Amino acid sequence: MASSRHFMLRSYNYYSSGVAAYPRKVAPLSSVSLQSPRLCYSHCCNGAVHSAEVELEQQQQQQQHQQRHLRSPDLVALEYADLNLSYKLDLGHVRIRQHVNPLSSSFSVPAQVPEWNHVFRDPTLPLMVDIGCGSGRFLLWLAKRNSKVKNYLGLDIRQKLAKRAEIWVKDLALDNIHFMFANATNSFKQLVASYHGPLMLVSILCPDPHFKKRHHKRRVLQKPLAVAIVDHLMPGGQVFIQSDVLEVALDMRNQFDEFDVLKHIDPSNPTLLCDNEGWLLSNPLGIRTEREIHAELEGARIYRRMYQKQM
Ligand SMILES: C[S@@+](CC[C@H](N)C(=O)[O-])C[C@H]1O[C@@H](n2cnc3c(N)ncnc32)[C@H](O)[C@@H]1O
Repeated sequence: MASSRHFMLRSYNYYSSGVAAYPRKVAPLSSVSLQSPRLCYSHCCNGAVHSAEVELEQQQQQQQHQQRHLRSPDLVALEYADLNLSYKLDLGHVRIRQHVNPLSSSFSVPAQVPEWNHVFRDPTLPLMVDIGCGSGRFLLWLAKRNSKVKNYLGLDIRQKLAKRAEIWVKDLALDNIHFMFANATNSFKQLVASYHGPLMLVSILCPDPHFKKRHHKRRVLQKPLAVAIVDHLMPGGQVFIQSDVLEVALDMRNQFDEFDVLKHIDPSNPTLLCDNEGWLLSNPLGIRTEREIHAELEGARIYRRMYQKQM
C-alpha cells in the first residue's frame, strides 16, 4: 500500500512538472506517411513483392518505436494538435506553481463575477463548467467543436494557467469560452447563479488528490460545492467526474451518489457502459484531459462517473 502510494505521489509530481513545461510541437502520428507497397513494386524488378513487404514492415516498426518513445508532453501536444496553439507566450517571469493550498488566505476571496456578455458572444447558451481545468486545452478543444451551441467556463486556482488559456482563447478567436483564475470551492456558486443561461454540464477531472488524510479538506470537491453543482444544474444536466486515483474517485462518487435527484447515466444511455463496479468503461466526451493522457501512458486506469439530473 505504502509503495503504491509512493508511486502515485511520484507520478503526480512528475505530472505537475509536465504541465508547467510547455510541450514541443510534434507532427500527428497520422501524418507519418507509410509508402504504398504498390508504389515500391513499380520501382523494383526482382523480388519486388518481398521488398515491399519488408519496407512496409520497417516503416511500421519505426512508427511503433516512435509511439513507444513519445513522452507525456508530446502525447498531450498530439491530442490537441489541431488547436495549433502557440507556446511562445510571454507570461512574465513568475513560474507556474505545481501545487497550491486552496485553504491559504490568498485564495479565500471569491472570484469576481464577469460581465457575461463581455466574455461570451451569446451568454444565454447552455454552459459547461470545468472545475480545475489545468491548462485548458481540453476545454478549448470542446469549445472549438461546439462554437455556436454551447459556452465553456474553465476555473483554475493557478493564475498563470488561466492567463495563458485566455491568450489561447484570443489566438483562436473563440467567443464561447472563458477562463478564470478562481478557487472553485468558494467561487463556483456565485458564478453559475449569475449566468444567464442553463448550466448543462459540470466536470471535475483528475482533481489534485491531496493524499494525506489531514489534507483531504484541501480537495476541491467539498459538500457545499457538490450541493451548489446539483442545485444549479438544469433538469437533464450532467456531472462528469474522473480520477486515476481510486480513493479520490470514490470520494467524489460517494458525494454525488447521495443526491436522489442525480442518476448515473448508463441505464438511460446504452452507449455508455459500466464495469461491475459502476465505473464507465470509456470517456464519454471524446477528448482526454492532460492528466488522463499522462496516467494512461503510465498504464493507470481512469475511474469515471457521469450523472444526470432528473427532469
Ligand atoms: C491534477 S490537475 C488536473 C487538471 C485537468 N483537469 C486534467 O485532468 O488534466 C488539478 C487542477 O485543479 C486545480 N485546482 C486545485 N484546486 C482547485 C480549486 N480549489 N479551484 C480551482 N482549481 C483548483 C489545480 O491548479 C490543477 O490545475
